[in-house]
Amino acid sequence: MYVCVCQAVTENEVHACIAAGASSAREIRDSTGAGRDCATCVRKICAMLKRSKELVATA
Ligand code: FES
Repeated sequence: MYVCVCQAVTENEVHACIAAGASSAREIRDSTGAGRDCATCVRKICAMLKRSKELVATA
């Protein structure tokens, strides 16, 4: 499923980016392009980052 329609970035790509060490929406934007256009997806990317941090904290 696409997270960023403008740049055609999928949820899997964002997850892979987080797994590779990205810790901010800016880092994800720089490596995938998501959020570079209309920025509608930034909220969703932030939610994905927050959730991954919560999962790490509870692991
Ligand atoms: S949906 Fe990501 S920049 Fe527009």
